[in-house]
Amino acid sequence: MNPLADDRFRKAGTSRSFTAAARTRAGLRTVEEHELPDLAGLDMEIFAGDAYPYFVLRQLFDVHGDRLKVVDDGSELCGYVLVATRQGGNRSWILGLGTRKRCRGLGYGRRLMAEAVRMCAADGVHEVRLTVDPANTAAVQLYESFGFARDHHRDDYFGPGESRLIMTLTLARPTPDRQPP
Ligand SMILES: CC(C)(COP(=O)(O)OP(=O)(O)OC[C@H]1O[C@@H](n2cnc3c(N)ncnc32)[C@H](O)[C@@H]1OP(=O)(O)O)[C@@H](O)C(=O)NCCC(=O)NCCS
Repeated sequence: MNPLADDRFRKAGTSRSFTAAARTRAGLRTVEEHELPDLAGLDMEIFAGDAYPYFVLRQLFDVHGDRLKVVDDGSELCGYVLVATRQGGNRSWILGLGTRKRCRGLGYGRRLMAEAVRMCAADGVHEVRLTVDPANTAAVQLYESFGFARDHHRDDYFGPGESRLIMTLTLARPTPDRQPP
């Protein structure tokens, strides 16, 4: 049992059986166009003032919609991850990852990250990058558990006072199938 999940859900007054049932029901899938308003609401709940303006989210969907995955627990969208791959396919960026407060500690963040890394590996990407607030311990720990390394620190990355840690994961290049003798 994940102790974080256990503790947070007891605090929220939610029974373990409900939690386990919700977790079992939760599905991970590609977001659909009609869900964009829900996704914008989710993004706003998670990131508040740093949420994407709706028109940006809309266009991210237009360009990277097949790499925009959500976890849905049957009642609403609980979290999302967005991956963008640069032209040439060598490097991907994880542009967004988050789960709503009531859904945290249930393994959804880890599932979304696992899917992001899986997609990058399947696309033959060599390097995955992301930025994170260095004070965001939960996210940094999650990324490190996937093998992301602290690459470098950039002052004012997202504007004055918005420094970010750049983290990098190097993926093994797929080995070519061995030819039969
Ligand atoms: C970071 C975040 C996505 C984690 O989502 P989550 O659904 O709670 O994640 P999980 O339940 O799958 O936990 C995965 C790991 O995250 C880390 N983690 C989660 N909550 C944590 C906490 N309160 N303290 C320390 N580490 C924590 C742990 O390494 C955990 O590992 P475990 O699976 O061994 O327990 C979530 O806290 C979030 O959305 N935060 C706000 C948005 C954000 O900061 N996004 C990242 C921007 S770069």
